Amino acid sequence: MSRISSSLGVTTYLAINLSDMKTIAIISSSVRNGRNSHRVALYFNNYLEEHKIAIADIIDLEEYNFPLFDERLRLQKDPAPGALEFAKRIRNAAGVIIIAPEYNGGYPASLKNVVDLLYDEWRKKPVAISTVSDGPFGGTQVITSIQFSLWKIGAWTVPAMFPVPRVLETFDEQGRPSDRSAVDKRAARFINELLWCIDATELMAGRPSS
Ligand SMILES: Cc1cc2nc3c(=O)[nH]c(=O)nc-3n(C[C@H](O)[C@H](O)[C@H](O)COP(=O)(O)O)c2cc1C
Repeated sequence: MSRISSSLGVTTYLAINLSDMKTIAIISSSVRNGRNSHRVALYFNNYLEEHKIAIADIIDLEEYNFPLFDERLRLQKDPAPGALEFAKRIRNAAGVIIIAPEYNGGYPASLKNVVDLLYDEWRKKPVAISTVSDGPFGGTQVITSIQFSLWKIGAWTVPAMFPVPRVLETFDEQGRPSDRSAVDKRAARFINELLWCIDATELMAGRPSS
């Protein structure tokens, strides 16, 4: 996975062999009936694959239907297969994109459930956060709470933001943006920063941290 930037500041991604590609997990965190933020997960899935940037792995928390958190996975005596599989998918991902809708100024309980479930899997994992709302502010109030939780657990959250206001107008049900060039331009900046952090993490792999 690599990229080049022209002098005009337009980022172009180099297509490389599928076997060389890394996996980027996309956590679709809403489990609400009639949810809309899943559209953003589909958009990133399509974006990563169409531009041959990475293998996209949508982790849909609705499909997992996890019970309310009662203990961290590493301390569970008889963990559920779904929890083990979820941990494996996060571990195997070079980076993670989290789609976090805004619920009353915070992020959904379904997302907190899985942040708390894991530990080592999150540590130094590059994570990019896209916040979503159906109003004009794109869920921007969510960013501080999810950033804080991920910082506490030792994930490496990238500073780039991807707020999605008016999600129903911005994306259709298949994740197709109504203004593709504008959305793709923002996505390129967002993804580019995640890729930079993934590269940096890999360069530092094996070195002791402080
Ligand atoms: C319980 C609940 C609380 C919400 N609170 C806010 C809010 O504080 N600010 C906001 O802009 N939108 C708020 N919304 C609107 C959501 O951000 C919007 O419906 C978004 O699509 C939710 O994601 P979902 O459809 O994938 O569940 C709220 C929605 C729900 C269901």
